[in-house]
Amino acid sequence: MSQLAHKIKIGVPKEIKNHEYRVGLTPGSVRELVHQGHQVYVQSGAGVSIDFTDALYQAAGATILPDAKSVYHIADMIVKVKEPQPNECLMLRADQTLFTYLHLAPDLEQTKALMASKVTAIAYETVTDAAGRLPLLAPMSEVAGRLAIQAGAHCLEKACGGRGVLLGGVPGVAPANVVVLGGGVVGYNAIRMAVGMEASVTVLDRSLNRLKELDDLFGSSLKTIYSTTDTLEEYITQADLVIGAVLLPGAAAPKLITRALLKKMKQGAVIVDVAIDQGGCCETSRPTTHADPTYVEEGVVHYCVANMPGNAARTSTLALNNATLPYVLTLARKGTVKALQDDIYLRAGLNVMHGHLTCKAVADAHHLPYTAAESLLK
Ligand SMILES: NC(=O)c1ccc[n+]([C@@H]2O[C@H](COP(=O)([O-])OP(=O)(O)OC[C@H]3O[C@@H](n4cnc5c(N)ncnc54)[C@H](O)[C@@H]3O)[C@@H](O)[C@H]2O)c1
Repeated sequence: MSQLAHKIKIGVPKEIKNHEYRVGLTPGSVRELVHQGHQVYVQSGAGVSIDFTDALYQAAGATILPDAKSVYHIADMIVKVKEPQPNECLMLRADQTLFTYLHLAPDLEQTKALMASKVTAIAYETVTDAAGRLPLLAPMSEVAGRLAIQAGAHCLEKACGGRGVLLGGVPGVAPANVVVLGGGVVGYNAIRMAVGMEASVTVLDRSLNRLKELDDLFGSSLKTIYSTTDTLEEYITQADLVIGAVLLPGAAAPKLITRALLKKMKQGAVIVDVAIDQGGCCETSRPTTHADPTYVEEGVVHYCVANMPGNAARTSTLALNNATLPYVLTLARKGTVKALQDDIYLRAGLNVMHGHLTCKAVADAHHLPYTAAESLLK
């Protein structure tokens, strides 16, 4: 089969979740797909709020369609960002592939709707790589980590309830103490920004290997500390800004900052709890929105926005496309079944096929039967 033998129709609907401005494909990605001989159909206005106008998509070779219904009707594969909403699920079909974030484990309604549609649904967040990482989740952790310092610096200002401390200090005045809990993808990116702003930065992690890597990367600009109850208490009580970036894969975030410890923190200190999407690593954290991102408990400002990357929608869309485009190109070129047969790591992303649940974690979460992807792909 030649490279151009398999040509498909790809649909990009406008995201309809509240305050979601990202879009599944950029005009640049559309151009690559069109160059490979595929047809791309974009809903009018899908990228307009991040300055990807219909004219840019047309110039890249896309056909603009007036509404979601026509996009879902024509497409062999739908490429999105957020999980499909109930009315979108009703437009999906058995002969279609859906490639997007799904987060099915806490969402029984969507799980059942996707099973009923018989669509082949591949979730960005469960695609893996040879090193066991999650390559399509990482770009959003990068964005969130960098945003965390931006948001935290802003929250430290008096007008936001913070203690009126500048992250980098000025000549003659010490910089702020930034403490990063968890030095993974979010933590690393937060550290880079905080070091760049010349704050005094400390990371606490449970992985000695990770602390060694961070020590090699940042040298004397970063203090690396093994996380114990003792060290946590010592550094949290001295912190001006705490970034919560811990993750125990598949589990709720550990509550490293109890209310008792919070009471010992400096007045006007700030906690940006990025791990809030896993319940947060502070006992007093509860999810907030971009419209109302902070609240104060025990004199400490809490920033707990669960979808931080959404606020940097243009950067996030570009970063996400850098990661997803190779997969979209492969799925389109080989066809979904062959692409899934050939690549065990892409196959890890398959969550629903022909009405069956092919992701064990999702099946277990809903006490529904699990079917191995391999048995459906024969
Ligand atoms: N709020 C948002 O918008 C947003 C966006 C992206 C990611 N996140 C969340 O941020 C969190 C971190 O994501 P990530 O990609 O950096 O994960 P990661 O797996 O790359 O890093 C997590 C780190 O936490 C460390 N850790 C685990 N338990 C610890 C403990 N008790 N003490 C100290 N360190 C500990 C691990 O060793 C690891 O280095 C996740 O919950 C993720 O879902 C949130």
